[in-house]
Amino acid sequence: MQARPDVIQVAKKLTDSSLKNRFDTFNRVDYQEKLNADRLQFPEEFLSLYHHPIYKDLSDEQKWKLSLGETANFFACNIFGEQHLISHMENKIYRNKFVGEDPISSEYAQHFIHEENSHTFMLAGYCIRYYGQVLPNRTIAMAAPKLSPYGEDCLFFARTFVLEMFLGYMNRIARDRDDIDTTVRQIHYFHLLDEVRHIAWDRAMVEGNLWELKERGLGHEIPIIKELVKTYSKVSFNSLYNPRIYKEIGLENPSLLCREAAEIPARKKIVAEWSKGFELYLCKIGFYGASDISENSAILERYVATNQVSHSLVEAV
Ligand SMILES: [Fe+2]
Ligand SMILES: [Fe+2]
Repeated sequence: MQARPDVIQVAKKLTDSSLKNRFDTFNRVDYQEKLNADRLQFPEEFLSLYHHPIYKDLSDEQKWKLSLGETANFFACNIFGEQHLISHMENKIYRNKFVGEDPISSEYAQHFIHEENSHTFMLAGYCIRYYGQVLPNRTIAMAAPKLSPYGEDCLFFARTFVLEMFLGYMNRIARDRDDIDTTVRQIHYFHLLDEVRHIAWDRAMVEGNLWELKERGLGHEIPIIKELVKTYSKVSFNSLYNPRIYKEIGLENPSLLCREAAEIPARKKIVAEWSKGFELYLCKIGFYGASDISENSAILERYVATNQVSHSLVEAV
């Protein structure tokens, strides 16, 4: 029998780290007076239309506006995805019934919630200053099948893990790029600083709840949860294509463009690479099987050869 994952020990370490890395929520970012017209706001090859034939016909101004719109879109996905997260975590603190509800874990959850609130402030600050608004929430209602409390938490934290890895991947890329503008790089940098801890907590909670599901004879819930997590991952990537942004830069048939852009093989390759960190981790803990990984046999071969997750965001930062 596998040992019970020590969630409380993880919470202690993360609380220490959050305390060491405290910051001023309302004065963290130096928002530049005016955005730099010579620098994009989003890494160019990750723009949703970069691989679409239409991209070569766009003017420099359209490309720049696309980069601003897609940053506002990415930040809105971040804000509303994490807003949902905070509401679930708030219900769990100090309840002392299920995994991660003891006083020590609850203390860390309070840091987590505080940091997410600070992220919303920082991201909204960018959107409102430079884009004029926070784009509306486009997330659709998520399936919520009847599961045990352990199954519900496993599903919730696995979805959160996928979301935070999805966001964190771009944070890490944009943070290191000197061809994109200053403020946006700073925001990606700050977000990732805290997200590394959140991702560590998500992992502990997924593992802790998986252990409980197996121990309590609830293993039949695991395949149901897995399918929902895979759907959530697809929905997260689909959120990168927003017809409103295409319309704003003067493109016709924006909904068709969304569908076409997502189907381009070079774009699919980018998405497979983007998914690699969370997919390999979920594979490593036995939650995903080989057939659940995005089409990229090279990744699988490397996984089988090393039998370890070498591309985890947490380890890479
Ligand atoms: Fe966040
Ligand atoms: Fe987070």
